Amino acid sequence: MNRQAATLTPASPLRTVARRYATGVTVVGVSGDGGVHALTANSFVTLSLTPPLIGVAIGRQGRFRPLVEKAGWFGVSILAASQQRWATFYADRNRPLDAAEYSLTELTSPGLVPIVPGCLGYFMCAVDAIQPVGDHDLIIGEVWQCECSDPTQDPLVFLDGRFRS
Ligand SMILES: Cc1cc2nc3c(=O)[nH]c(=O)nc-3n(C[C@H](O)[C@H](O)[C@H](O)COP(=O)(O)O)c2cc1C
Repeated sequence: MNRQAATLTPASPLRTVARRYATGVTVVGVSGDGGVHALTANSFVTLSLTPPLIGVAIGRQGRFRPLVEKAGWFGVSILAASQQRWATFYADRNRPLDAAEYSLTELTSPGLVPIVPGCLGYFMCAVDAIQPVGDHDLIIGEVWQCECSDPTQDPLVFLDGRFRS
């Protein structure tokens, strides 16, 4: 196969096609010395069942990346259809970092991770590896605890650049 850069798909058509792929929406959070930090992410993927591994692709320039490396633990909350405002808030680069309305619940065992209250389900993960993938880093998490709080609720969905609930 010809792998010359000139033959690669540019970002714009890649985005156009990828937008047609419906995803769920997560909030990925870390608890560290400086407090809690979280962001909205739809790159969540389950990678392996045995061992239990999940992944999230995180922009290398963002604030989350150095914090998760230091903390060694992170939480992934799957948002319910009724939680779109949480997704909007945690996707805003200019969000206030101490907005009480969107404060996360900290789970303390075996790791320390922040979770969206009332989320559909969550994963508590220890950082297994951080793998550079182009302009992102794939944060691979080993799942130590997970729970589905209410299996009857519908998930929040992201498709064509819009939230669907
Ligand atoms: C639906 C949706 C999904 C997103 N998914 C990701 C993602 O998977 N990885 C990522 O790094 N940013 C993603 N973002 C963008 C971040 O949420 C946003 O840039 C955030 O402000 C980054 O936070 P930080 O700068 O504090 O790290 C997504 C945004 C939206 C609206």
